[in-house]
Amino acid sequence: MKIINVVGARPNFVKISPLIEEMNKFSQIEPIIVHTGQHYDYSMSKQFFQDLNIPDPDIHLEIGSGSHAIQTAKIMMGFEKVLLQEKPDLTLVVGDVNSTIACALVSTKMHIPVAHVEAGLRSEDKGMPEEINRILTDAISDYLFVSEVSGINNLLHEGVPTKKMFFVGNVMIDTLLKYKRQAEETNVLKNLGLESNDYCLLTLHRPSNVDDRDGLKNILGALEEIQRNILVIFPVHPRTRTKIQGFEMQGWIDQMKGLRLIHPVSYLEFLGLMSKAQFVLTDSGGIQEETTVLGIPCLTLRENTERPVTVEIGTNIVIGIDQKRILEESKKLINGDKKQGAIPKYWDGNAAGRIVEILLREISNEAC
Ligand code: UD1
Repeated sequence: MKIINVVGARPNFVKISPLIEEMNKFSQIEPIIVHTGQHYDYSMSKQFFQDLNIPDPDIHLEIGSGSHAIQTAKIMMGFEKVLLQEKPDLTLVVGDVNSTIACALVSTKMHIPVAHVEAGLRSEDKGMPEEINRILTDAISDYLFVSEVSGINNLLHEGVPTKKMFFVGNVMIDTLLKYKRQAEETNVLKNLGLESNDYCLLTLHRPSNVDDRDGLKNILGALEEIQRNILVIFPVHPRTRTKIQGFEMQGWIDQMKGLRLIHPVSYLEFLGLMSKAQFVLTDSGGIQEETTVLGIPCLTLRENTERPVTVEIGTNIVIGIDQKRILEESKKLINGDKKQGAIPKYWDGNAAGRIVEILLREISNEAC
């Protein structure tokens, strides 16, 4: 069974790592890794392959950055050639980035079945490029691997037949549980001169937050206040760095002595930082899940989440980007008023095992 596994952007690497490891346990599976090149900086790509012991990609499309149309179209053109050459039995895509929809679309049109890992998540906000990618990828995929109950409900609501859906848990958490101890042993806190529980960790990269001058100004305004009370560590995504410079906000940030901008860090370093933070401020999807499992409070700087289980039973609170609310919620956490959370069903480190077992069963049934 030849399976093409597609990766392109940073979170994809974290999700594919346990799947490749699991596939490699079965001699009847031949996993092939295709890297679209959506992310290409060392710190956004290669570093993750190293940290997570992912074999080098078999095929690299080297597409790079571009507008949505250009990036998606280039990936499609490159991926069509790969499928013609490799003739796989299945294409497996993860998450919700442009590489996910581009490769799923090419594959299904060539009558090659598609498996989507992290299916069914919905923010109900079509202003997010990822929401469009999720809806479209799910609509054309044959095997929908779901990480939380809301995903099943969303797919049912969209009329997807139940036989296509499999509630398997969260592959990102497989990776977290495997590497947690190793992450805590890195020197990242020491290198940055940090003490456990003495800082808050910030990530920002959503276009709705960083591409809009007023939105970004608003968030930075709140941080100006927060950094007076707690040190804020901010690994800056390349998109965000470009925007900060473009909006000429660097000078303002430089005056905030409690806000420390650092370069993007490796997977292990980030996990190390997250697991010892007093709390996390983020607009990322995956970090809402990771903090829930680590039991670290998370304030999500968005109006919605496609991962509601992290709010319903996890440590996440979705607070939007209203300055007053960001300050209020941060102050509560600094004062020790923390939301206690629990771990969602099947976020137990065995999601990739369940997925591969189902694929082996389903695809051999198809062949009979
Ligand atoms: C992409 C995903 C987003 C995901 C995020 C994780 C889409 C639509 N968006 O957003 O869902 O949460 O990855 O990081 O697929 N850049 C570099 N070096 C790199 C990669 C990007 O400098 O290695 C810069 C480029 O200026 C590029 C910009 O970042 O134009 C944005 O990159 P892109 O992949 O288009 O979107 P992300 O914001 O990273």
